[in-house]
Amino acid sequence: MSHNLLKGKRGIIFGALDENSIAWKTAEKVHEEGGKFVLTNAPIAMRMGTIKQLAEKTNSEIIPADATNLEDLKTLVSKSQEILGGKLDFVLHSIGMSINVRKGKHYTEQKYDWTHKGLDVSAMSFHKVMQVLYHEDAMNEWGSIVALTYMAAQRVFPDYNDMADNKAFLESIARSFGYHFGKNKKVRVNTISQSPTPTTAGKGVKGFDGFIEYAEKMSPLGNATAQDCADYTVTLFSDLTRRVTLQNLFNDGGFSNMGVSEDVMEKFS
Ligand SMILES: NC(=O)c1ccc[n+]([C@@H]2O[C@H](COP(=O)([O-])OP(=O)(O)OC[C@H]3O[C@@H](n4cnc5c(N)ncnc54)[C@H](O)[C@@H]3O)[C@@H](O)[C@H]2O)c1
Repeated sequence: MSHNLLKGKRGIIFGALDENSIAWKTAEKVHEEGGKFVLTNAPIAMRMGTIKQLAEKTNSEIIPADATNLEDLKTLVSKSQEILGGKLDFVLHSIGMSINVRKGKHYTEQKYDWTHKGLDVSAMSFHKVMQVLYHEDAMNEWGSIVALTYMAAQRVFPDYNDMADNKAFLESIARSFGYHFGKNKKVRVNTISQSPTPTTAGKGVKGFDGFIEYAEKMSPLGNATAQDCADYTVTLFSDLTRRVTLQNLFNDGGFSNMGVSEDVMEKFS
């Protein structure tokens, strides 16, 4: 059911690869709530994924952009405003990638070229996106920028590998840039810390199946799905959350405040 929460709002959605992607579900939900947007992803993802179907379904255009490349980002931001007919109200950064994770390199044996690339794609790209939006003055006042993160930024999850460090950096960027965006442009910046979710990026983490089940049993409300994340993101893009900023917001069924659950204890007693 639509509440028209995003009627008249314009934005950019990064990171829809296939129908499991959190960004895909978010794009569908934003469309349902009346928002208009440009979809973007890395040029290589255009070939691998099915983003064209999403574009048709949501009546949106696709502009390929490597989120680590400033020229690509400048073109994306200026063309998006042309296509959508004005400044932007929302931006979703739903991007993550670690070559160490993908290639099964242990945290204690990182290949630093790969670490560097993962940091650029997963965290620094968020700074780059915001720096371009800021300098092009591309956001409307009371706009909203959201990036997705994971609790390994605060707690140890060994198999999350160097992505834990990337997420810590990402969350810090949200606060630091969020200050300047808030003070000078009245734009809010937040991260959503999402439950483990079966997507291409999620399933790439070693031991994902066991881990998602563990998180499910630890969380009083169970794991938040990609759809739950889309719903939450829409609230952060809407005018109902205008003074929520510089926050890392957990969308995880309660997992982050648990010590142990009865369901998990049962397995050990
Ligand atoms: N799946 C989970 O368990 C989980 C949990 C918490 C947070 N997250 C985060 O959610 C976000 C979305 O991931 P997802 O789970 O939907 O997986 P996904 O694989 O569907 O999405 C990741 C996206 O990043 C894009 N990407 C990679 N390199 C890029 C680049 N250079 N430029 C532009 N885009 C690039 C990919 O093409 C892909 O669309 C990520 O930040 C991820 O870390 C995921």
